[in-house]
Amino acid sequence: MSARTDRSGTQPGVVPADVADAVARARPRLGTLATPLVWYDDIPSTNSEALAMAETGVAEGWTVAAERQSAGRGRHGRVWVSPPGAGIYLSIVLRPPAHAVALLTLAAGVAVADAIETVSGADARVKWPNDVYLGPTPATGKIAGILAEGGLSGTRVDHVVVGIGINVQAAALPPDVARRATSIEGELGRQVDRGAVFAEVCAAVWRRYRQLAEGDRAGVLDAWRARGAGTLGRRVEWDDANRTGRGVAKDVDASGALVVETNDGVRMVSSGEVRWT
Ligand code: BTN
Repeated sequence: MSARTDRSGTQPGVVPADVADAVARARPRLGTLATPLVWYDDIPSTNSEALAMAETGVAEGWTVAAERQSAGRGRHGRVWVSPPGAGIYLSIVLRPPAHAVALLTLAAGVAVADAIETVSGADARVKWPNDVYLGPTPATGKIAGILAEGGLSGTRVDHVVVGIGINVQAAALPPDVARRATSIEGELGRQVDRGAVFAEVCAAVWRRYRQLAEGDRAGVLDAWRARGAGTLGRRVEWDDANRTGRGVAKDVDASGALVVETNDGVRMVSSGEVRWT
């Protein structure tokens, strides 16, 4: 996790009615999330804004969302293309207890899949660590991704910003992104209520986060295994420092690392991403 704090100086706007209404209905299930919900029509990155706010000391649950991001960030330094009217771009400030940090990104991936399935009925799955896609294999492409970035106080994790990007509607994407990404509506062939997805994601993140914070790491890992069944048992490859590792994904361990059986024995992949082969 790393902290980036480029900010635009733009002012918050009004939360759109579809999101505001759904969040109000879900309020009893949101805990402290979306308190407040700060909405921008256009911002470089909701993660950057939430990180900057976290560093000023805002309480857990502070949530930043936007209609459009001009500099949305993905994992591994990639750009998260964030056109208006096409997706959900949302970042949540958490102040997790130390024992909840390691599995937080896996829990967030499960939560996003939980929420998409609740709202749309679609079979939502996760690919290690937390890419979300629809259907038994990610052949159709990714519909949501999570970027968790943290800030330290000494050696202690002071805050983690969980940034969630969800492609709800089909959008004109650059060709390299279009090859890897799709949208919920594009896959289902029907409209999906963006506000309901937004509110349900907040409710699901809160539920999985509380589960972790209360010490039920095994429950979160089991939920990940159920959603990640398509990853397990498959041949994968990943880039180590100076070579490409290959093997069969078997499980996730207690730290959230992917357990891979290779010709040279069992390897734990704890960072980066894996490719399906
Ligand atoms: C990934 O690469 O899979 C993670 C994508 C995370 C994108 C979201 S959109 C909201 C938040 N703000 C950002 O700049 N990135 C995250």
